[in-house]
Amino acid sequence: MNTSAYFKNHVLIAVLVVTIGLYSFTFFQAKPWNVPDSFAKKTNPVKSDGESLQTGKELWAKHCQSCHGKKGAGDGTKAGELETEMADFAKDVVQKQSDGSLFYKIIEGRDEMPTFKKKVPDESDTWSLVNYIRTLKAK
Ligand code: HEC
Repeated sequence: MNTSAYFKNHVLIAVLVVTIGLYSFTFFQAKPWNVPDSFAKKTNPVKSDGESLQTGKELWAKHCQSCHGKKGAGDGTKAGELETEMADFAKDVVQKQSDGSLFYKIIEGRDEMPTFKKKVPDESDTWSLVNYIRTLKAK
């Protein structure tokens, strides 16, 4: 083997190692989902009263439960078909996020999480969904 072939092999191996490294990094790390400040800091204009929670509950059953599950554990009937792991909505990872952050993620969606701008066009309904998500918090 001449020196240049020897060198090429090393470069090839180095590229391979880096590629595998990056791939496993993106594969095993939960992708951070950044929310613009303008949304994260939005205050929820809809009071979490009986009416709002009822609306939220109905919308959850209709649009969200199939993936996220009845209590948001990520165990809906469609969950098995998804490649993206869903967080447990009862836990801090979701409950510690601001109302505005949850609102943003619901309207925008990402990859397998659909956008709900059209299916839930009324913003106050989306806020009611956020209010309902708060009731899923582990007691
Ligand atoms: C087709 C399946 C599916 C449906 C239906 C669905 N989701 Fe999701 N949702 C996902 C997936 C998958 C993720 C994770 C996305 C990611 O991290 O890239 C997610 C993430 C989220 C998040 C962000 C959670 C976090 O980890 O920060 C919120 C909030 C959310 N969904 C709310 C809802 C609401 C509310 C509805 C109904 C209006 C809904 N989803 C309907 C699949 C779904």
